Amino acid sequence: MRYIMATHNKDKIIEMSRIIEPLGIEAVTDRDLGLELPEVDETGTTFAENAYLKAASACEFTGLPAIADDSGIVVDALNGAPGVYSARYGGEGLDDKGRNRLLLSELDGVPREKRTAHYACAICCVFPDGRAPITAEGEMHGVIATDERGEGGFGYDPLFVVGDKTVAEMTAEEKDAISHRGNALRAFRDILKGELGL
Ligand code: IMP
Repeated sequence: MRYIMATHNKDKIIEMSRIIEPLGIEAVTDRDLGLELPEVDETGTTFAENAYLKAASACEFTGLPAIADDSGIVVDALNGAPGVYSARYGGEGLDDKGRNRLLLSELDGVPREKRTAHYACAICCVFPDGRAPITAEGEMHGVIATDERGEGGFGYDPLFVVGDKTVAEMTAEEKDAISHRGNALRAFRDILKGELGL
């Protein structure tokens, strides 16, 4: 059975495929099908709602079961910001570096014990036969550093500290084992296994 991965992010496609292909599922992208998925307005107020919107749109467009993810960083001292707006924090003009600088300036003077945060990820699968969608969520908890460290990962990883390392200082395997996306994907795989009777 073919499932469409409703994302253009190569890292996400690799991570999703690695987890679901052992279930006998062929993970395909819109490019593999010679199509281009329509852009989806992420109007949800939760990660799960946005993941559902992306999966539902891809399922309707292709007629295949569709898997989407939505993720972001939730900072306690900023009342949960940037949250579902993580990719757009500070406006469209900022890149990852600019968003990290903005986050540091927003937390200027906030002591370490109040710099707690978590990454969150929701994975959703929508089926064309009308059966109920599957949603799974995962989190990774840490603290926002006072300066950037490390070359790995992406996005806010150089600022996100778990234990004594930033996520950007971890190997891909170390990150996968504890990350919000790894946790959500493993939970998703277990629910999907049940759904498919595997
Ligand atoms: P999405 O593609 O709409 O899910 O956007 C998620 C945004 O949250 C990304 O652009 C990053 O800024 C941030 N984010 C999500 N997961 C991670 C991660 O694992 N590391 C660093 N930043 C992340």
